[in-house]
Amino acid sequence: MRFRTQDIMPPPIVKLIDAARRYTSSPGFLNLGQGLPGHVPPERALVALRDRLSHPATHVYSPDEGMLELREELAIYLRRTSKIDVNPQDELVITAGANNAFAGAMMALLHQGQKVVMPTPYYFNSVMAVEMLGGQVVEVAGLKGFQPDPATIESAMDDDTCAVFLITPNNPTGAVYERNTVDRIVDVCIERDIPLISDETYASMIFDDATHYSPRSRRDAIDHVITLGSFSKDFGMSGWRIGYVIGPEEFIQEYLKVQDTITICAPTAGQLLALEVLKSGLDFIEDELRRLGLLRELAYLRASEIDALELERTKGTFYMFPHVKGCEDSKRLVLDILQSTEMLVLPGSIFGASGEGHIRLSFGPLTPEAVDEAFDRLAGFFKEN
Ligand SMILES: Cc1ncc(COP(=O)(O)O)c(C=O)c1O
Repeated sequence: MRFRTQDIMPPPIVKLIDAARRYTSSPGFLNLGQGLPGHVPPERALVALRDRLSHPATHVYSPDEGMLELREELAIYLRRTSKIDVNPQDELVITAGANNAFAGAMMALLHQGQKVVMPTPYYFNSVMAVEMLGGQVVEVAGLKGFQPDPATIESAMDDDTCAVFLITPNNPTGAVYERNTVDRIVDVCIERDIPLISDETYASMIFDDATHYSPRSRRDAIDHVITLGSFSKDFGMSGWRIGYVIGPEEFIQEYLKVQDTITICAPTAGQLLALEVLKSGLDFIEDELRRLGLLRELAYLRASEIDALELERTKGTFYMFPHVKGCEDSKRLVLDILQSTEMLVLPGSIFGASGEGHIRLSFGPLTPEAVDEAFDRLAGFFKEN
């Protein structure tokens, strides 16, 4: 067989978890690799879903674009939290997660050989999707604090550019993009009539004095912005595979061709749970943000005690992306850390060339004791190596 995918890198987290398998069964194993929060949907939403399980409608397809009631609740939620206006009838589709939404958007937009401009470090699955579809990623270096650079993004664009892709708050860096910076990128996209795809998977995970700025909130940008979102991180629902895509009606019409072909609809039971969660009050997210805020303080404090780590404090998510002094092969380093400390972190190089020399630490589901333990182990490792 000849595969179109043979030159695409294998899913890096799956590969690393495979490499870590010898250690994962050890009682002392610490996983700072996978990007998960620590919360799950509240009991009241689960009970409400349980009541619906005996109903035949839970077990069959929903409309391709998702259940109208969920789209309406989501539009209200997004108006309140991200300050964006969305017509749930024709500007919003519920997807099987944000990854599914990005790949679907690319299927609708990308012509063979076209380019997608992305600040680096990037989220590797987006690159995999672009390359699988015969496109090319143009990596552009960021500025201090991992902010994207509007000038470099503009100079990387040409007649073959199919889209610009931003992630805020960002994986892997945790950076929350500043409003002025995003606005300058939006201006360029409008001027050149190129869509800006904005991945806002971590929209509620904002700390310190930061605010999340969603480019769609600019009324003049609505025809040029495609917004991706997810219930995986903010709502603790990664196993239910629910996300969404928002865009102008003409884009949504095209997107629905992809949706019908690839998934038909997002999982119906997952949509029902998402609906119950939205209707049942979101105080569980507030609780999780308070918990993560405390963990972040602890993690930054403990990281600052390790000389080998050079760290810029960012304001979003549960990720840290420190540079390791003298590190030229982060994959090797991560395997050494795993072997010596029974702890999994991710190598920065899987997030693009500019990630080399960094490691990504994800502390979402950990307890404060586990965060302390993780930094004790890292401090011990760097003292000896
Ligand atoms: C930036 C970003 N987008 C999308 C996803 C995938 O989200 P979903 O579970 O909704 O597919 C992730 C998961 O880590 C992510 O970090």
